[in-house]
Amino acid sequence: MTFLQIMPDHDGGEILLRTADTARIAAELARWKIGFERWDTSRHLPADADADQVLAAYRDDVERIRAEGGYRLVDVVSMRPDDTDPEWPAKVKTARERFLDEHVHDEDEVRFFVEGQGCFYLHLEHRVYAVVCEAGDLLSVPRGTAHWFDMGTRPRFTAIRFFQEEDGWIADFTGDPVARRIPYLHELAVTRP
Ligand SMILES: [Fe+2]
Repeated sequence: MTFLQIMPDHDGGEILLRTADTARIAAELARWKIGFERWDTSRHLPADADADQVLAAYRDDVERIRAEGGYRLVDVVSMRPDDTDPEWPAKVKTARERFLDEHVHDEDEVRFFVEGQGCFYLHLEHRVYAVVCEAGDLLSVPRGTAHWFDMGTRPRFTAIRFFQEEDGWIADFTGDPVARRIPYLHELAVTRP
């Protein structure tokens, strides 16, 4: 289930707001110029769909977002458990930790979740907005917004990514340890709204 949880940045145990109402989520994020949309996911995609099939299934929405944001490049990223691969736990650890600390980018971070789940944490003044995204969610984080991302301890997701420049999406870490004070995705998801 998609939900938003807002916490003070000094105490991840205090919940200021927790809601699964997607209209409310969009409204709360819009105050910070962060885009949140729900797309129709009723179209059929095979479980092993490749990037071209994923992009074709969402062509109209993808083209609309590209035009609105001037995104020149689009790709599809996928993570799923592979218990046959002995290296998988190490690969997950590396992939997960890569963006688990607060950072900013020189361009927008725009993601549409085709399947699975992931949590974006947005550090907005003295609050943290944890947005747990699932299939059908598009989140647009403007350039310069302090944030981090948790794909979870057992990542499973497919997402469409939008880029303005080939080299624009490089993480600039802030050094703020705020992420350590805030529940991880698997802790947030224990009690659902
Ligand atoms: Fe990021």
